[in-house]
Amino acid sequence: MAVREVLKMGDARLLARAEPVSAFDTPELRALLADMRDTMAAQHGAGLAAPQIGVGLQVVIFAVNANPRYPEAETVPETVLINPVLTALGEEEEEAWEGCLSLPGMRGLVPRYRRLRYQGFDAAGQPLDRTVSGFHARVVQHEVDHLYGILYPRRIRDLRNFGFTEVLFPGQDTVAEE
Ligand code: NI
Repeated sequence: MAVREVLKMGDARLLARAEPVSAFDTPELRALLADMRDTMAAQHGAGLAAPQIGVGLQVVIFAVNANPRYPEAETVPETVLINPVLTALGEEEEEAWEGCLSLPGMRGLVPRYRRLRYQGFDAAGQPLDRTVSGFHARVVQHEVDHLYGILYPRRIRDLRNFGFTEVLFPGQDTVAEE
């Protein structure tokens, strides 16, 4: 278990498509997940995708549990999601501010589907199938984008809504980094 370096925007590894996991419940997968948890916790992130620590596999983790950095956010159970498939439920979108551990200190206003179903597998290879909305749906879309080499600035409709946290939100820091 170790806190790993989080790659920053500009690193080509963040632009690559991740490969599916083919073997579950292995020592390698357990070690990867332990490192991801340690790294996410050390950075107070809401989520982390394996490519952010330089591992090109379809593995994401996320959790929102009374994080002091965004007390208004709803709780999201700690989830390991492997080989995910997302299905938007309806066309409705909503915009909200997002951050990313790969773009520290920045925020952008990003549209996401409000409701979606996500399917995939947990660390033991058990199927996962959830229908979620709001912040939970947002975090999942952000993390799964990482598996396709997409960082949130590509989703911003109007780049005037992109900037430094300390300028956009002086004196407060209540938006998640993922
Ligand atoms: Ni991110």
